[in-house]
Amino acid sequence: MTKAIYPGTFDPPTNGHLNIIQRASLIFNPLIIAIGYNDQKPAPSFAIEERIGLLRQITSGISNVQIISFQGLLIDFAQSIEAQIIIRSLRNFSDFEFESDQAAINRQLSGIETMFFPADKETQMISSTLIRQLARNNSRLKLFIPEVIEDTVFKRLSAK
Ligand code: COA
Repeated sequence: MTKAIYPGTFDPPTNGHLNIIQRASLIFNPLIIAIGYNDQKPAPSFAIEERIGLLRQITSGISNVQIISFQGLLIDFAQSIEAQIIIRSLRNFSDFEFESDQAAINRQLSGIETMFFPADKETQMISSTLIRQLARNNSRLKLFIPEVIEDTVFKRLSAK
């Protein structure tokens, strides 16, 4: 079976992320969900342990998923766990421009291919930033993140 890694910030995970996890887990085994650090973004709102807990809850029905965090370069981590494929999701042309360059660099450095999943029409407008903004303004999140974590995420962010 092919081991794939699905990296992201997941701050917090959304229906968009879950959609990709569900689809990728039907093709790859195991699917490693890897929480990384994006130094182009503000400091995360959720600690790594919190994000691991949220991802565990939303993937509890998917047996071939593992959740882990990493530091440093994605490609170094992917090689260290012997992942064969990197999964990324594309929402729009801006994602494509950025991610295709990233995929090319990663392939040159390691030989590991990136496979792109087009974001689902229903979820492509969702972002973790949007979720944080909605909750901080006391808007519930039921339409955008899995129900099982909605209360936790809303309370955690709206309390700030
Ligand atoms: N539907 C809707 N939204 C989606 C989505 C989907 N299918 N997939 C992703 N998103 C959203 C996320 O919510 C996130 O929103 P945000 O920008 O508001 O936070 C955004 O799209 C992209 O986030 P995500 O896919 O989680 O990835 P990221 O770009 O934050 O994470 C890492 C990037 C961690 C994978 C990357 O920074 C990394 O590899 N870091 C390690 C260092 C490294 O190797 N750098 C490369 C140097 S060559």
